[in-house]
Amino acid sequence: MKKVTLHTLTQMKASGEKITCLTAYDACFAKVQDEAGVEIILVGDSLGMVLQGNNSTLPVTVEEMVYHTRAVARGTQRAMVMADMPFMSYATPAQAMQNAGLLMQAGAHILKLEGGAWLAETVRMLSDRGVPVCAHLGLTPQAVNKLGGFRVQGRTPESARELLDDAAILEEAGASMLLLECVPSSLAAAITQQAQVPVIGIGAGAATDSQVLVMHDLLGLNTGYVPRFVKNFMTEAEDIPGAFRAYVAAVKEGRFPSDEHGFE
Ligand code: KIV
Ligand code: NA
Repeated sequence: MKKVTLHTLTQMKASGEKITCLTAYDACFAKVQDEAGVEIILVGDSLGMVLQGNNSTLPVTVEEMVYHTRAVARGTQRAMVMADMPFMSYATPAQAMQNAGLLMQAGAHILKLEGGAWLAETVRMLSDRGVPVCAHLGLTPQAVNKLGGFRVQGRTPESARELLDDAAILEEAGASMLLLECVPSSLAAAITQQAQVPVIGIGAGAATDSQVLVMHDLLGLNTGYVPRFVKNFMTEAEDIPGAFRAYVAAVKEGRFPSDEHGFE
């Protein structure tokens, strides 16, 4: 069993093998996903919604992310563990350095931060200190109040141009990965082509190097509104490990996502 590293993921991007990513928040689900062949396990701040019952990710604290990251890290042998830096934990580079240390010491291998060009200095500082960063662009849920809701981003020519530029600026600043959430599939394809680093997508079409879903969505545990990029893999599996394997196979074979899951 070879551990998944940034080197592994860069090679996968180059060879065109799709990279699979799923959220997990505890050791048991992390272990089952790891055994299903998921390459990146994301300790998402979506836990504020799916575990804690909040209507946004804003209430999540660094302490809570540290707790869940520790649990996921204990359950994981092969996959890369990515942890979200929660709302306002990286408002300044100094805060980012301190909180990033706590999350890396809890067992994360890479941290995900939401934002555009303004994040470049923070990305540079983290990266220079040995902390790989995934820059989350497009629909950034921590900014839901600023964005005016959970809405598709990059639909106008100007905002599409800005996203392309932000992606380039963050990569130049040292981001090791990018994540695009809810952007038109054609724009995600253009950013993926421009980027030298692996690009993860959710609601971003099939052209990104990797796909991610919130675990609960994949398991059909939706309560209320179901976004169009969600697919329930329990309908084609006998049990939860089978649903994770079905997701991995569907992403690797290019069967998920299909056009109906994307935006244009
Ligand atoms: O918190 C999360 O689960 C995420 C993914 C949806 C990308 O950031
Ligand atoms: Na998140």
